[in-house]
Amino acid sequence: MTQRYSKITGWGKYVPSRVLTNADLEKMVDTSDEWIVARTGIRERHVVGPGETNTTMSVAASRQALDVAGLMPKDVDLIIVATSSPDHFLPSVASEVQYQLGAECPAFTLTAGCTGFVYALATAHQFIATGAYNRVLVIGSEVISMFINWEDRNTCVLFGDGAGAVVMEASSQPTGVQSFVLGSDGSGGKYLKVRGGGCAYPISHEMIEDKAMYIEMNGRKVFKFATRVMGEATLQALDKAGLTLDDIDLLIPHQANLRIIQLAARHLGLPMEKVFVNLDRYGNTSAASIPIALVEALEQGRIREGMNICMVGFGGGLTWAATVVRWGQPAEPVEWPLVWRFAPTSHKVSMAAAKVRLHARQLADIASYRASSLLLPLYTFAGLRKPKNKND
Ligand code: UT7
Repeated sequence: MTQRYSKITGWGKYVPSRVLTNADLEKMVDTSDEWIVARTGIRERHVVGPGETNTTMSVAASRQALDVAGLMPKDVDLIIVATSSPDHFLPSVASEVQYQLGAECPAFTLTAGCTGFVYALATAHQFIATGAYNRVLVIGSEVISMFINWEDRNTCVLFGDGAGAVVMEASSQPTGVQSFVLGSDGSGGKYLKVRGGGCAYPISHEMIEDKAMYIEMNGRKVFKFATRVMGEATLQALDKAGLTLDDIDLLIPHQANLRIIQLAARHLGLPMEKVFVNLDRYGNTSAASIPIALVEALEQGRIREGMNICMVGFGGGLTWAATVVRWGQPAEPVEWPLVWRFAPTSHKVSMAAAKVRLHARQLADIASYRASSLLLPLYTFAGLRKPKNKND
């Protein structure tokens, strides 16, 4: 069987127009622009305004991604949304996105904290590599501002809202996802947590007074963890792809803190020119940070055909993940082998035939039921109806 690769053919992003600067935060909590820039590198972040939700941002980013890929929503076989800040517990953001986009495909939401997008990319890759699907829409979207205690300076200066999306398509050429590594260490879950609102600590007056619906974080613990796993995961993903550090053209890390990124790059021995950073304008947008950074890197011409990109993330869980992607030419027509090209058509034909068979059987059953109910009185009248038992 021809090996199937999954290639990124479309991309898009959306960030709310409302900007919250460090100067704005100085008026809200005991902090300073100087402290935030020196400790994190963040200068401003975007937060949702009226009418903007996780779903609306996801849909906006997805429309761009589909445009770039030259696809219609109906062409998509699967939608995966990575998020930790869904609009509702039920329905999932992914189903709302599927409906609002006008797609006709399965959809599910995946949660792996800020690492979610790389998890989703790896999941989409598996669906494509196995032949289950040909086109998957992968979204990272967050409205983290809704889970922020705007009186807690330890967290409120860090996060922002936004969404990024990519289209992944099956390809017979060895481009796209070359490898991935996924990791989780639940023992560190306590270091980055929303304690309340779920089944363990349901919504109540007490829970709200306890402010348990907000993100709580042990920054130092997460910092240490992040600097360690980013380097390790990057190397593991490179190793699995049969590449070395010299082969990396661009590292796109989770945009949480400039110091974390600089330390991880230093540990790896990777010059900062090969590392993409945009957190100064967006802050930490959790599962949206890597796709937003990917889209900006493309817009800035930092990614070209044949380049090896490594995306590496870490976050709540605690989780981490890295993937190596070999960039293919975006406009290149997908050269699917003949059998793949006709597979969807033959599938549609056989499904249509199955539907016709089903309806024919249903019609036949209805007709025979009607006929028997018409004939029953005649049989009874003519004494032809046999008694069911001797007492009848
Ligand atoms: O996606 C994953 C999500 N999370 C992360 O990636 C976060 C990882 N951690 C970090 O980025 C950093 O640990 C922080 C930026 C959160 C904090 O930086 P730090 O250099 O580790 O600071 P610290 O926690 O050691 O705190 C130093 C001081 C403390 O004061 P004291 O106890 O030394 O008097 C804090 O209370 O800085 C204080 N502080 C602040 N001061 C001004 C904490 N937040 C602020 C603030 N403004 N916003």
